[in-house]
Amino acid sequence: MSKSSHILRPGKRPAKPPEMIATRVPISPSTNKSASMTIPISYLNSTLNCFAAVPRGAEELAAAELAALGISGAQPGKGGVAFSTDRSGLYRANLWLRTASRVLVQLALFPCSSPAELYAGVHAVPWQELITPEMTLAVDCSLRDSALTHSGFVALKTKDAVVDRIRESCGSRPNVDTASPDVRINVHLHKNLCTISLDSSGDSLDRRGYRLERNEAPLRETLAATVVALTGWDGSVPLADPMCGSGTIPVEAALMAAHIPPGFQRDFGFQRWLDFDKELWEGICADAEVGIRRLPVGLITGYDLDNRALLLAGRNVAKAGLEGQIHFFHAALQDFRPEGDKGVVILNPPYGKRLGEDDDLRELYCQIGDVMKKYCRGWTGYVLTGNLELAKYIGLKASRRYVLFNGAIECRLLKYDLY
Ligand SMILES: C[S@@+](CC[C@H](N)C(=O)[O-])C[C@H]1O[C@@H](n2cnc3c(N)ncnc32)[C@H](O)[C@@H]1O
Repeated sequence: MSKSSHILRPGKRPAKPPEMIATRVPISPSTNKSASMTIPISYLNSTLNCFAAVPRGAEELAAAELAALGISGAQPGKGGVAFSTDRSGLYRANLWLRTASRVLVQLALFPCSSPAELYAGVHAVPWQELITPEMTLAVDCSLRDSALTHSGFVALKTKDAVVDRIRESCGSRPNVDTASPDVRINVHLHKNLCTISLDSSGDSLDRRGYRLERNEAPLRETLAATVVALTGWDGSVPLADPMCGSGTIPVEAALMAAHIPPGFQRDFGFQRWLDFDKELWEGICADAEVGIRRLPVGLITGYDLDNRALLLAGRNVAKAGLEGQIHFFHAALQDFRPEGDKGVVILNPPYGKRLGEDDDLRELYCQIGDVMKKYCRGWTGYVLTGNLELAKYIGLKASRRYVLFNGAIECRLLKYDLY
């Protein structure tokens, strides 16, 4: 048998009977409810069981994004969405999901309360069909409510089992490269149930490739995309961000409106896998390119007091391929006067936990309320803040509140109907 016929090729069955390691039931790494439903099947089943990790609060949106890609039946859970798809779906999910930070492909699921169980469960995966001794690997680990409590130890034990299995089969072992591995393995232990996955994204999907430098408090790209999606903005009315900083909200909005895939500027982990289907991938990218449209002048605008942040915003826009399609202005919030009788205004003010102190910010939040009330009639206002005390100073009644997380900081996206 040729070497390539041993390679994991989701969607194709190998000539020899595969080992029984995976599960047919999509399992969220954050739950073990499905443990009793585990049905061992071939890891080369044509269906890939995937899990897209998303910021908390964005799970339903991610399921809707998958449905829009033709991937139905996604199950939103806490911090992610479980779904089944084929290789084309996996590639498209990585390219197109705006809210997800990574897409994992599950290989194995087993009960695990001891180092020996961990080693045996990982060792049972035929790693030699996924990783050659010449390739590099890294192991990421997350643990919750389990007997094994040290993530560094679990990652190390997992790595040992992987490289031992490859050495037994090939005579030599791959090296570890934590910075830029060919294959990133993900171990998730929750309530003594261990899920082993391949990370098909590689670098986090937040890293779109357009942000070259960071300003003081940039919003994560996935969170900015989540905020824009929650506003329901569809590109038919103007969108303005009067405190745009490095422009993450305008850029994510523009990528959406221009139908540019968020991952168009970057590579993905699956491109270094042995089973990478270049032709399929190039077809998916070519299809995406056909749908891109140019945005009309004035559709998306950003404003900020900080010239340095605006400089970064301009560079991000250029790198994102959106030059001339978002316009930025150096302006204080008190001078913000949106044009047109309707639109969406999104503000992400400082909220005292990372920039400035609450005392200094009360006046700013009062100003946000004043400006929205006086100058944004007919528009819909949104404020993303991690400080509910400060939010009271806006002085307007929110018609809706969404709970979101900016890293570990619990935030609210507050909606204001401005009459
Ligand atoms: C939390 S940051 C926004 C970050 C932005 N969403 C990003 O991704 O880079 C808040 C921004 O508000 C700006 N800002 C603070 N006070 C302002 C004011 N009175 N008028 C306009 N902008 C202001 C700051 O310069 C800062 O860039």
